[in-house]
Amino acid sequence: MPATNEYSPIGIFDSGYGGLTIFDKIRKRMPDYDYIYLGDNARTPYGSRSFEVVCQFTRQAVARLFAEGCPLVILACNTASAKALRTIQQKDLPMLDPLRRVLGVIRPTVEAVGSLTRTRHVGVLGTAGTISSGSYSIEIEKMYAGNITVTGEACPMWVPLVENNEIDTPGSAYFIQKHLDRILSLDPQIDTLILGCTHYPLLIRQIRQFLPAGIAILSQGEYVADSLSDYLARHPETDCRLTKQSRCRFLTTESAAKFSETASLFLHDNVAVEQIAVMS
Ligand code: DGL
Repeated sequence: MPATNEYSPIGIFDSGYGGLTIFDKIRKRMPDYDYIYLGDNARTPYGSRSFEVVCQFTRQAVARLFAEGCPLVILACNTASAKALRTIQQKDLPMLDPLRRVLGVIRPTVEAVGSLTRTRHVGVLGTAGTISSGSYSIEIEKMYAGNITVTGEACPMWVPLVENNEIDTPGSAYFIQKHLDRILSLDPQIDTLILGCTHYPLLIRQIRQFLPAGIAILSQGEYVADSLSDYLARHPETDCRLTKQSRCRFLTTESAAKFSETASLFLHDNVAVEQIAVMS
């Protein structure tokens, strides 16, 4: 058991603010744990960046969170989970620290989709990087052995709409409808849409307006939180290394004041934020 004054939090990493939607659900599900959130706001967005760059930035963030004392890091970013998780787990962790763990958000989301779809036709909405990586299709294929048809649609304008607080504007309505129409015309049998990007839960009301009745929206935060709680119950060797005093720190690579202001959009709360140097 860690000493009580020790701080061994769960690390939550995102390219910027979006992972706060995941963090919020995790903290509500497991309020006793300590957390540290790191947003790489100076280098966001990751969605349009290459595989190599997303891997490099994510690896740096994980190393930083390990240095902050995290035995476990969640990549609460779909793009980082899609492009960097496997490489980090297989190549970097054995060298960095084989006793620490790094988990992503795609697998828990894919685990949930099987019980939601009736038609076995699923759509994935995400950043250009997440969709072009094919990670959701690959995971769904692995888990459901070809029994679910997957169609992806990149929605590059949706993140900037949220970050600029343009959620309830005609501009946002235009871009939301455009991508929903496109994915449903590609596969009219889709009955479940995965919001495969951290920002999209903030658009859920607007998304619902443009969807025909009977299409379920899978917003991943609660599934990721349930899956993490289940993981820790099954892995007491990791759980016992985590401190549980409900403490929380927020780090950003950009201005702390700016982070604090936009974070309130996601958490409906004011948070104290520390700025750190861009990681290298
Ligand atoms: N957090 C990213 C994701 O979930 C969206 C923002 C970005 O492009 O960096 O894919």
